Amino acid sequence: MTQLDRVALERVIAVINGKGGVLKTFLTANLSGFFAANGYRVLVVDLDQQGSLARDYGVRDDDDYDHGKALAAALMVQAALTNARKSVRENIDLIPGGRHLSGVSGYLMTKTPEQAILSLAQALEPFAGEYDVVLLDGPPGDQAIQNAALGAARWAIIPTKSDATSLDGLEQVNDRFEQVLPYNASIDLLGVVLTDVDSSAKAIKRKAIRQIHDMFGSDEPLFKSVIRHASAVVQTARDVGKLVLELERDANDGPQWWEIRRGEASSDTYIPSSVTGLAGDIHSLASEIVERLAAGESEEDGS
Ligand SMILES: Nc1ncnc2c1ncn2[C@@H]1O[C@H](COP(=O)(O)OP(=O)(O)OP(=O)(O)O)[C@@H](O)[C@H]1O
Ligand SMILES: [Mg+2]
Repeated sequence: MTQLDRVALERVIAVINGKGGVLKTFLTANLSGFFAANGYRVLVVDLDQQGSLARDYGVRDDDDYDHGKALAAALMVQAALTNARKSVRENIDLIPGGRHLSGVSGYLMTKTPEQAILSLAQALEPFAGEYDVVLLDGPPGDQAIQNAALGAARWAIIPTKSDATSLDGLEQVNDRFEQVLPYNASIDLLGVVLTDVDSSAKAIKRKAIRQIHDMFGSDEPLFKSVIRHASAVVQTARDVGKLVLELERDANDGPQWWEIRRGEASSDTYIPSSVTGLAGDIHSLASEIVERLAAGESEEDGS
């Protein structure tokens, strides 16, 4: 089998769920913001042909944005990826995704399973070790690229909404794990996170938690933190190309709603007050992730 330095890849985390719209991209971007604010060097990789991760950083329209060209070449013909990295914030580098990734899946299917599954691992290995965390933003659907993400990762985080079809996506990830394990024995589940949670729908949340419990045989995989539904903040963040943490800082520095109401400040700069709660959710999830990483790594050291 291809020789890979898995030590370089030990902090690679795939944010993955076969189902679309479960907040994979939102989490990748916003977790990177919290890690970077705490001094981690972070690499984020957009594996989606929609290329929406760059939008969350507000860099999608930059002239040097390559729409996934370098990443596609790396996955298909092992072209070097080192220079494709784009600095998007202090401590955060992005490997862009986008329309050039559309042909990758078909191409990988002409390869052996080993070559296809390890394609991303090989592309990242030369420089993944420079980072404290590498987050892979998985695509919806595209099985070959999802497999390549799990083939490169040490850990997987699965976001899911509480509805039945999103929960079905969890089972699909299970299938992906089975396909990848023969080529990447180190892949493990870091946890499942409930996203887009409506605080008034307590029964739905309880039902989803019960279903996840039944799927895994325990509550252990489920993160205690959930990500709340907060569409106004998320919309504002995307409109201005800022992360939630950055919006929260702006909100603390900017005008209050009563100042806008009195005409003392412009509503253009108004940030919904729910930013604080959403930022708190991301912060608490990021802390749990750090704890689980530390626990996983100390277990390895002890074994
Ligand atoms: N906390 C939130 N509350 C409400 N809406 C949200 C929240 N976070 C993200 N969204 C919105 O939900 C939609 C899906 O989010 P996102 O793009 O992160 O999901 P995804 O899993 O990456 O989707 P895809 O599978 O298409 O890549 C987006 O329109 C996003 O703006
Ligand atoms: Mg996405």
